Amino acid sequence: MHASALLGLALASVTATARNCARAPSVGTGVVKCPIVFDGRVAAAAAATDFDSYGTSKFNAEYVKGKELKWSDIIKFPADAGSARFDTEAHKAFEVTISDKSIFQTQNGFRRAGLQFQGDTNTASPASSGVKTLHFSLKWDAQRALNLSHEYLNVWHEAADYSSNQFNFQAGQIIGQSGQADTWKLLDRRNKLLWSTPIDKKAWQNFAITLDYSKNTLQVYYSINDEPLKSAASAFANDNSGNGQFQIGILKKPTGTSDVVNSGFQSKNLNEGLIYGSLFVEDSAGGCVSL
Ligand SMILES: *[C@@H]1O[C@H](CO)[C@@H](O)[C@H](O)[C@H]1NC(C)=O
Repeated sequence: MHASALLGLALASVTATARNCARAPSVGTGVVKCPIVFDGRVAAAAAATDFDSYGTSKFNAEYVKGKELKWSDIIKFPADAGSARFDTEAHKAFEVTISDKSIFQTQNGFRRAGLQFQGDTNTASPASSGVKTLHFSLKWDAQRALNLSHEYLNVWHEAADYSSNQFNFQAGQIIGQSGQADTWKLLDRRNKLLWSTPIDKKAWQNFAITLDYSKNTLQVYYSINDEPLKSAASAFANDNSGNGQFQIGILKKPTGTSDVVNSGFQSKNLNEGLIYGSLFVEDSAGGCVSL
């Protein structure tokens, strides 16, 4: 066979591989190479009711959710989600949902359901010092689509005194800011947009955020489906002080109010969700980040 024919075959197979890669794999091939601090990857055999008690959940069983709801009312396991990059056959994707009952305490403006890792204590958590990387992957659920006219917080780290978040990973129309609604956005402690990427409504989108608590920097990594993560930008300066906790899920802000916690407009018969996978925190001492 001529070299050019061989090259043609090689190109054809590269193209086929690229096409296959565009689909979510059944098992992620990403390897966690740094020590895990909190593993939020959900066991393949887990039931939603496992989220209801401390003995069986990887997360706080009582926070942060509507008082009338149990986590087993909130968590779904969508059958066709596939696997995110660091989810092996031992894990499965899970979906966090919100409904009209997703009112935490008396926060009538928000609809929210947020997971906190068990052990991620508000002060002196092992994930609030040194250099730590939070990994999470997201998949859009067309059956429970977010309404991007609203502002959503999906993943964040809230300071121990609850006065601010060290970073916000968000979607939708950020209140008081111009800019595209249909992107995932990383905002710094002052709510300044640092980075964004379009929401892909078909593929898994993988993110990692490295928090260096001594250098006060934030770095974001990104890939789709089973592709290795890549640094998406150089590290940003950010005030990471103040301890606190990660939260992962959905916090939907209302529209039409200046008091978002307590008032404003939320659509009725809400049925929204976001699919998560590959959720864990690793120790990035010495620059270790699983890609
Ligand atoms: C999306 O939110 C806007 C603003 O609150 C609302 O007017 C609209 O009805 C919502 N759309 C859906 C499909 O719920």
